[in-house]
Amino acid sequence: MKSLLRRVFQQNKKVDSGKEDEERKLLQSPLVSDKLQGLPKEYIQFMTWSCFQPVSGFLNYAKTRAFASLDMTGPSIDISCGDGSTSFIALGGELAVDGKTPVRFPQTTFTHGTDYNPRSLEVASSFRAHDALTLHDNDAADFPFDDGAFRTVYHNALYFVKDPVAFLRNVYASMHEDGIGLFQVWTDKFYAAYDEMGECFSSEMIHESSPFSITDTFHTRWDVKQWEDVFLQAGFKVQQIESAFPHADIFKQNVIERTLCLRNDYWRLLNEVSPRTQREIRTEWIEKQARFYYSCVTEEALKVPVEDAVYLSIYVTK
Ligand SMILES: C[S@@+](CC[C@H](N)C(=O)[O-])C[C@H]1O[C@@H](n2cnc3c(N)ncnc32)[C@H](O)[C@@H]1O
Repeated sequence: MKSLLRRVFQQNKKVDSGKEDEERKLLQSPLVSDKLQGLPKEYIQFMTWSCFQPVSGFLNYAKTRAFASLDMTGPSIDISCGDGSTSFIALGGELAVDGKTPVRFPQTTFTHGTDYNPRSLEVASSFRAHDALTLHDNDAADFPFDDGAFRTVYHNALYFVKDPVAFLRNVYASMHEDGIGLFQVWTDKFYAAYDEMGECFSSEMIHESSPFSITDTFHTRWDVKQWEDVFLQAGFKVQQIESAFPHADIFKQNVIERTLCLRNDYWRLLNEVSPRTQREIRTEWIEKQARFYYSCVTEEALKVPVEDAVYLSIYVTK
């Protein structure tokens, strides 16, 4: 942080606009780095996207490794797709060093995506990871798709839904007889991390870190067995349940990182300097964080017993 501040304040000379355009193009071009050789492409992309919140970056990489189990047969749906960035990267999209400009779009896409946030869907349309986007609130009584429509279903926001069983019944109806569903949910161990933080820090600080997680979603503070029951009640067959994240101790760092809200401060500081300096700082930061954290997401590190899992991948069929 200190060295970044020093560079921001040292770099106070104005560049002419032609040069600035040229530098901006470089910032909006792919990351080039020898130091990241050998690391998975998707991992580098998530660390680029989440440059100033690296724990979120590697957790998103960990969670979307489960996409490899989906053959993405269409029609396919990504329910609550948000701004589409996660699916964009997981399906092979690539971002520029700036962490936001797409330089390569995914070759495989979801045929459908939904969310209840229109602004998120607007951004999602620019990422092109979904062929069609529908505004939909999962708490509504209906699900605006034909019965038996989907062969591939992905959803990672079930813990927001007020009545998960009622919602899952709708999703069940929309799934094809041969369809496969992948659902990812927080477990009770996730909330336990917040409890532990609450013993040391103010509730205001904890709330700042993740207001949605600990207030809106508290009603789904469920362990593995309880989650399995929810899917069974909705009519699904549960094929497999596994941990999607590294061990909970690493996860606690995510809580701390989000509380510090570094990402927003860095963005503000970076916008004060030339695109060339932004590119340099971002490249160095991505290189460093990606190398630091890779040991957390190796095959070995992700072998967490399901009963200790913070975040689950639940595979279901009809
Ligand atoms: C944690 S984000 C996940 C977004 C995306 N799937 C991803 O992995 O990046 C949760 C998403 O659920 C959406 N969401 C929350 N409540 C919802 C509801 N009732 N109906 C539809 N979407 C909802 C939010 O707008 C947000 O995009």
